[in-house]
Amino acid sequence: MSVFNVYPLYDITPVSAKDVYVYDDKGVAYLDLYGGHAVISIGHSHPKYVSAISNQIKKLGFYSNAIKNPLQTELADTLEALSGCNDYQLFLCNSGAEANENGLKLASFHNGKSKILAFKNSFHGRTSAAVSATDNPKIVAPLNAQQDVDFVALGDLESVETVLKANETCAVIIECIQGVGGLDESTTKFYQGLEALCKTYNTVLIADEVQSGFGRTGDFFAFQKHKISPDIISIAKGMGNGFPVGGILIHPSIKASFGLLGTTFGGNHLACAATHSVLEVIEAQKLMQNASSISEYFFEKANGLSKLKTIKGRGLMLGLEFDFPISELRKNLIFKHQIFTGGSKNPNLIRILPPLTVKKQHIDSFFEALEKELL
Ligand SMILES: Cc1ncc(COP(=O)(O)O)c(C=O)c1O
Repeated sequence: MSVFNVYPLYDITPVSAKDVYVYDDKGVAYLDLYGGHAVISIGHSHPKYVSAISNQIKKLGFYSNAIKNPLQTELADTLEALSGCNDYQLFLCNSGAEANENGLKLASFHNGKSKILAFKNSFHGRTSAAVSATDNPKIVAPLNAQQDVDFVALGDLESVETVLKANETCAVIIECIQGVGGLDESTTKFYQGLEALCKTYNTVLIADEVQSGFGRTGDFFAFQKHKISPDIISIAKGMGNGFPVGGILIHPSIKASFGLLGTTFGGNHLACAATHSVLEVIEAQKLMQNASSISEYFFEKANGLSKLKTIKGRGLMLGLEFDFPISELRKNLIFKHQIFTGGSKNPNLIRILPPLTVKKQHIDSFFEALEKELL
């Protein structure tokens, strides 16, 4: 049997990893400034994370959601304390797309409407409703295209109101900072205006924090900078530091009923142990503060860089935009300097999404390599 060939691959085979480094089968160390798509939050193979998962699997790895699982309640309490999202309810699933799928479905159950409003350049995952709200026709199959979605430019409140006025839209889904799209973010005035319009027109506001959440921006959630309270917040990626886990935080105004949502694997014991240890390490090692201070250092270094057009993003969710395509530059960073970075829908933008444990010395290595390549 062959593997379904959907990923263009770099010719590197990682076999182990530690903190911000990944090691290949020849013993070469790569500096990981991409975190495997923003997934590695507390660093690869963090000892507390390894022991939390190992200890849990020795006791109980999985049992069904039909039986009590106190680890879910404990996780909800810790998540509330660290995120400051008080009184939300937690539903656990297995990935970012699934989190958004459940969020959109719940919105539709809640207000009985069926259209979605999403933003140009958005990425929300590859399941049915999530992919229909993703602004990339190449990954939307005819089956998914049956969903009724309006796409509006980020920042365009007037168009949002025109759509919501028709009273057919169950949810607005938004990445406060666009990830795959290329690190664009609008203004506080826009996000607050969006929240107000959603209230006026009885539309559920879903903040997709799959990539930007769990401390990556220096705040627990990216939307918190704009002082809004979304009705639903979707989470995944950094949440499990590589363990496949996702979820939604649901505002108390949205009520649960038996059978409304469900999953076999979501919220299993191992996933809860992994996520709980991630939260503990974020707090104990002050990783949100680290994200902010390393980010400041990154901006300083980037401002001195020749040939840079703009620097985008915040915290450790960053983009360097040039006025030329960066795919060759990224290859050289990997094969000549052993540094992983990311691309985006914007062909001129390098994405930087390191583990939140990254230090100044790693940023120095990156800029030294970049300067050499830009000569
Ligand atoms: C903002 C955002 N939402 C959703 C997803 C989908 O997450 P997953 O790949 O875990 O389904 C991604 C993945 O890149 C993402 O960046």
